[in-house]
Amino acid sequence: MLVRAEKESDREAVFTLHASAFETSAEARLVDALREQAQPIVSLVAEDKGIVHGHIMFSPVSLSGNTDSKMMGLAPMAVALESQRKGIGSALVRAGLDECRQPGIAAVVVLGYPDYYVRFGFVSSRRFGIESEYDVPEDVFMALELRPGSLTGKAGTIAYHGAFSDL
Ligand SMILES: CC(C)(COP(=O)(O)OP(=O)(O)OC[C@H]1O[C@@H](n2cnc3c(N)ncnc32)[C@H](O)[C@@H]1OP(=O)(O)O)[C@@H](O)C(=O)NCCC(=O)NCCS
Repeated sequence: MLVRAEKESDREAVFTLHASAFETSAEARLVDALREQAQPIVSLVAEDKGIVHGHIMFSPVSLSGNTDSKMMGLAPMAVALESQRKGIGSALVRAGLDECRQPGIAAVVVLGYPDYYVRFGFVSSRRFGIESEYDVPEDVFMALELRPGSLTGKAGTIAYHGAFSDL
């Protein structure tokens, strides 16, 4: 299994992957919209023998009152049903976080299953005084500092790219 940057030729397979992993095609369309509208993005696929088994995307989020802090949001991510529980999702998250570890990017946030994301070092965002713009239970909105202390004093509310409001 190779984790690599998404190419133009992967787009159809990535759309199909999200459309089948989620209940509707909303996430698949979100990926297309972010690719068009968000900058910078991290978009990786897990591929084996020409078949895309997984995809992950990161796009910039904003933190209220902290225009100097660059942060990324992890979403969406999907692994093909028949390829789940083989470590593909974990490989995508780790490779994606490595891509995000660039100068100037302080942290990554994610809205998802706490038991899953804790293994990559994510903790409840409330620990940093950071909240989601969405009304979600405390433990499902998580943050990961890309450098120790990078979220110290950065309390506020996270807003995702406008394309998320069409979800
Ligand atoms: C979530 C998802 C990306 C994980 O991909 P994966 O390749 O199966 O993940 P890995 O093989 O790296 O890890 C599997 C682990 O994730 C755990 N996991 C999967 N879905 C989970 C969930 N909903 N809640 C908690 N843990 C979950 C499994 O229990 C497994 O744990 P184990 O390693 O202790 O057995 C995949 O299940 C998926 O595409 N789901 C449908 C789309 C989706 O919900 N995406 C949003 C994620 S927030």
